[in-house]
Amino acid sequence: MGLTTGSAPFIEAARDRGQLFLEQPYDLYSEENHAAWRTLFGRIQQRWARYANPHFLEGLDKLQLPPDRIPRLDDVNRFLQPRTGFEAKPVSGYVPAFLFFDCLRRREFPTTITIRPAEELNYLPEPDIFHDVAGHVPMHTDKAFADSLVRFGDCALTAAELVSRLPNEQEKLRRLENIIRAMARFFWFSVEFGLMRSGSQLKACGSGLLSSFGELDHALISEQVQRIPLTLEHVIHQPFEIHHYQPLLMIVDSFDQLYEMVDTLERWMREGKLDNVAPGEPSIEESDLRSFLLPPSPVPSLDHGHRPAA
Ligand SMILES: [Fe+2]
Repeated sequence: MGLTTGSAPFIEAARDRGQLFLEQPYDLYSEENHAAWRTLFGRIQQRWARYANPHFLEGLDKLQLPPDRIPRLDDVNRFLQPRTGFEAKPVSGYVPAFLFFDCLRRREFPTTITIRPAEELNYLPEPDIFHDVAGHVPMHTDKAFADSLVRFGDCALTAAELVSRLPNEQEKLRRLENIIRAMARFFWFSVEFGLMRSGSQLKACGSGLLSSFGELDHALISEQVQRIPLTLEHVIHQPFEIHHYQPLLMIVDSFDQLYEMVDTLERWMREGKLDNVAPGEPSIEESDLRSFLLPPSPVPSLDHGHRPAA
């Protein structure tokens, strides 16, 4: 059984204890788990060479991810931390929205440690270690990109502080729902599914694309995909759906531009411009909303169980 997404007793036990942060129990990976990594990593190489942005390719080079077995996060972090201070931090599952962004603010990236089952190599709706480590982590070696993630984290803290001053609980939740929706849309169209200009070409910089053998190719060559410049005015009102290839993708010019846009997002939040974004996807879970109402607290150490906001 090993550490397979959907059937990993070690992970289920951690969740039952309410433990979100854990260690990567490397010896629990089965041969089948390593074989899944080997297949995913091997078959996507040529597509990365063609479609991935150069910062990602440099990051891959620096991280030295093993092609034949699941990486040890300690090894990944040894290469990653000296470059941008970022660290891949193992988690047992879904991280409530505020805590997720707050981890980014601390340069900790909540990282799934299970891997998809052999029969679902092409598509898995939830993240797995291939998505998180092969899709996201190489981007974290780039300073401007890493700084943009930290600014997303700052935005979450700003949102929590802004609503904490409101006397009315209903109004707190209403504003948070709008702000989180705006942040989630921006994050989706940049960090998860963004395209970027590279000379005269378009390349993928979003991790959802970079970890998908099928969609990476589709995103850059299909005539059915609309590709438009990412603007904050548009993205905060643009719904998205997760269960099919994205019909609309947005393009950033550079990670410095992305950083500036996250700055503007925070300013707009303070000015109340995120309080009434267009309704629609994503729907915001009650637990994600409420996670913003908690006073910011230090991330628990590995020795203590942490119960996600419910
Ligand atoms: Fe992701």
